[in-house]
Amino acid sequence: MNVQPIRWTGESVEFLDQRLLPERLEYVTCRTATEVAAAVRDMVVRGAPAIGCAAAFGLALEALRGRDLAAAETVLAASRPTAVNLFWALERMRGLQGEAAMTEAVAIYDEDLAANRRMGALGATLVPDGARIMTHCNAGALATAGHGTALGVIRSARDAGKRVSVIANETRPYLQGARLTAWEMVQEKIPVTLITDSMAGHLMSRGEVDLVIVGADRIAANGDAANKIGTYTLAVLAQRHGLPFYVAAPLSTFDARIADGSGIPIEERPEAEVTGYRGMRWAPQGVRVRNPAFDVTPAALISALVTEKGVVHAPDRDRVSALLAASR
Ligand code: MRU
Repeated sequence: MNVQPIRWTGESVEFLDQRLLPERLEYVTCRTATEVAAAVRDMVVRGAPAIGCAAAFGLALEALRGRDLAAAETVLAASRPTAVNLFWALERMRGLQGEAAMTEAVAIYDEDLAANRRMGALGATLVPDGARIMTHCNAGALATAGHGTALGVIRSARDAGKRVSVIANETRPYLQGARLTAWEMVQEKIPVTLITDSMAGHLMSRGEVDLVIVGADRIAANGDAANKIGTYTLAVLAQRHGLPFYVAAPLSTFDARIADGSGIPIEERPEAEVTGYRGMRWAPQGVRVRNPAFDVTPAALISALVTEKGVVHAPDRDRVSALLAASR
């Protein structure tokens, strides 16, 4: 499958509008950093590595036109707070002007694709033939430059000849699992079963799941991993049922400056995502609502971190720091 969530034309960046999937395949064109920031904020483009690529192209657009890069960086940095890939990309782009900025943004994109393929190959060795794999949210081609992180591992396992099937949690409230992961797997002809999030424990208790693999938005120095809300619940359930729980993420998702998961900023999203969906409201007026978009899974619940530079089993501060040191 050749889903291209991000297309760089040399003078604009186009994002496959993920708000419309799976019903419609339409691209949104951005010509300024402000337009890119709006696309990130409004979830036209989402998923940690894709957000990083988007931010890089946003700055490249401004650099090519000789505009104020500091102002553009501020606008992009304010778009979404949790995925560190955004800030990592902005830092990598800092100080680059004109063509050099464009070259760097394209390199960030190309490197993400290559990292996902490598992660896929490494992660595929953890997947037994016949595995029934549960995943949460969308850590697929759509969430990256292509191939995906968690779904990249599943794709690579299938390409290596393993018979795999996927259980996609719908991922309330924004439904990335039902709309995006299920769509990607159907396109790819990988058998996929959609469930609501609250069915995960039941399926595990019946022996219908062999492993869980998810992506991440930010991994702290000790291996604690922030990912889509509901991931932590799955990790607890996986431990209860003795199932491997894997997190696949590129090094651009690691934030060594944050000691542990408690320091990771968690985005709070609009109430309307919880009180209803696409204009339909089911909750009473006057009810109080919480809508944290991410949660933190402690490293102790993670069987392994799968990165493009290697698999870190039973991650902790020392093992994460060794990985990052070896990759410098
Ligand atoms: O709110 P989203 O859709 O941007 O959240 C995405 C996730 O939580 C993904 O699992 C994560 O970014 C990893 S994507 C390879």
